[in-house]
Amino acid sequence: MPIPAEPIWVHTPGRKYPIYIGHHLLSQKDFLAAYLQNKQVFILSHSEIASHYLALLHQSCEQAGASQIDHLIIPSGDQYKTLTTADEVWSALLSLNHHRDTIIIALGGGMIGDLAGFCAACYMRGVGFIQCPTTLLAQIDSAIGGKTGLNHQMGKNLIGAFYQPLAVITDISTLNTLGEKEFNSGLAELIKYGLALDKDFFIWLEENIDKLVERAPGTLQMAIKRACKIKATIINEDELEKGQRIVLNFGHTVAHALESLLDYKHILHGEAVAIGMVVAVQLSLQQGTIDKNVLERLISLLKKAHLPVQLDASVPLVEILTKMKHDKKHAYQRLRWVLLKSLGEPRICEEVTEQQITQALVKCGASP
Ligand SMILES: NC(=O)c1ccc[n+]([C@@H]2O[C@H](COP(=O)([O-])OP(=O)(O)OC[C@H]3O[C@@H](n4cnc5c(N)ncnc54)[C@H](O)[C@@H]3O)[C@@H](O)[C@H]2O)c1
Repeated sequence: MPIPAEPIWVHTPGRKYPIYIGHHLLSQKDFLAAYLQNKQVFILSHSEIASHYLALLHQSCEQAGASQIDHLIIPSGDQYKTLTTADEVWSALLSLNHHRDTIIIALGGGMIGDLAGFCAACYMRGVGFIQCPTTLLAQIDSAIGGKTGLNHQMGKNLIGAFYQPLAVITDISTLNTLGEKEFNSGLAELIKYGLALDKDFFIWLEENIDKLVERAPGTLQMAIKRACKIKATIINEDELEKGQRIVLNFGHTVAHALESLLDYKHILHGEAVAIGMVVAVQLSLQQGTIDKNVLERLISLLKKAHLPVQLDASVPLVEILTKMKHDKKHAYQRLRWVLLKSLGEPRICEEVTEQQITQALVKCGASP
């Protein structure tokens, strides 16, 4: 099958790269041929993903002309997205004699993508990397835009670099083997694009959520393309999150605090984002910018996607507040919230008091 005529392009000041989206792309050498001729390749993945797709990708790399192909399997789970695991990756690269022009391929979800990108940014002061995202969340979000990084015990994604891939190769067929909770977790980020950035897309999601939950291939492809276009447009304007890019963090202030509080083990990223979006909409409601109908529509959509809509009562309020204070989106000691001006329109807000936040968290289930 030839390369799709129209990939979505990301244009950053330092790099222009394509996002190819389609079915069964991993088994085609064409997408890799431009990058791998006579190159060393190092594939990073998890065992579950590798059991389905590593042999396919290995063969495509061979056919694309790679001179040496190695891989490393690392344990899955965000608790392993650490400097210790990154050190294992660099040690493997060094012991296998990978040079400055090696290409690292991330075959996995956001965890693999973030780690592979960070390792690529630092290895030999920067080598090329390619994203082959295999979760819905990675296909519509984490594989695009060059945010790479690791967790620290003080908080999530606190160590990292902006480092853009050479290409993103999105094989939608890989979603067939993804677990239900992980798939639904990706639906939360999809809903985020509609809710905070594109009202028409939110309405489309309301109409198509059942087909998305069933993973209907055509509907899924349309949704992934739309989300990638929205994200690419924002990255093209603000690669380094100096301004507008922060709107992509809608729902993430509470989400990151929750994930950190639960040791990155007991809640998936998208599940935390679902709850974070409900809190952000509740805050917007308290500030009078939207009416209750938006909150009700969001909750209804999240429920149809089998996502949580409120905090677990066992989560102590004071601990969430403390965790939020470590969030990277702090500016001048104030938390920068992304709230709603209206459905599909974000508003960056630093004027949120602790009392307002407390009220919203309690409304959303936190124990006072
Ligand atoms: N860089 C960014 O812009 C950005 C944005 C959002 C999230 N993130 C990060 O992404 C991570 C979460 O990513 P995620 O939700 O993709 O989870 P993940 O990468 O942890 O993967 C979830 C699980 O699904 C398995 N899996 C993945 N693809 C599979 C497939 N096709 N078939 C079977 N199993 C498969 C994995 O082995 C893993 O056990 C977090 O670390 C988060 O911080 C980064």
